Amino acid sequence: MASSHKVTRRSFLGAATAAGIAVGAGLPLEALARTKENTAMEPKLVTVPESLPEKVFTTERVGISRKTHEEHLKLWQGYARKTNEIRTKLATLDTDPAKANQIFSDVRALKADYSFAYEGLINHNVYFDTIGGSGGPATGPIADRIGAAYGSFENWAKDLKATAIGARGWVFLAYDHAEKRVFNYLGDAQNTFPIWDHTLVLALDVYEHAYYLDFATARAKYVDAYMQVIDWNAVNARLPK
Ligand SMILES: [Fe+2]
Repeated sequence: MASSHKVTRRSFLGAATAAGIAVGAGLPLEALARTKENTAMEPKLVTVPESLPEKVFTTERVGISRKTHEEHLKLWQGYARKTNEIRTKLATLDTDPAKANQIFSDVRALKADYSFAYEGLINHNVYFDTIGGSGGPATGPIADRIGAAYGSFENWAKDLKATAIGARGWVFLAYDHAEKRVFNYLGDAQNTFPIWDHTLVLALDVYEHAYYLDFATARAKYVDAYMQVIDWNAVNARLPK
């Protein structure tokens, strides 16, 4: 992204000195201005989750085991750590457009994998927040939204299950701000397939790591178990008012 702020000789000299660059060493003003931007940018880091909410382990009653969740936590933490690693590298990235390239370049590699890492974190934040409840038919405002969009809870549940079996990684129940309705979206990876102007209210992880220990390849049984442990209160808390 091009900088629009004005660099005066005075601010440039100050930045160069702060960056430990000998003034007059032959670097053009523009290059030194970039150095200032790059070195001045502090990355905002995410918090790495230390543990799972205790309610998550209540899913043992339907066969989604503690061991599965404990292993899953390590993956969740990995997304947070990699998000921070990429943010740290982006903070010092040389953003000279001449060095960007669509085949391979540092900016391309970092930004493509950033979306995988950060979406991975967000998806799991929502998954672990909205599991470990009493399940069953939706309650509260989300029940009305589901009814308006799908006709009935049963229709929605059928669509959710089909989407879960058709997906390679995720099902996302999200609220569409433009059309003012909810929809079950399908995701193959952490960062597919993004839809903007939505609020994610429920995320169902259907990667094998979420269920293989307990259900082997029987994903449909995992989805049936999941339906019994959705935390509708948490889903409602995420729904825009
Ligand atoms: Fe996962």
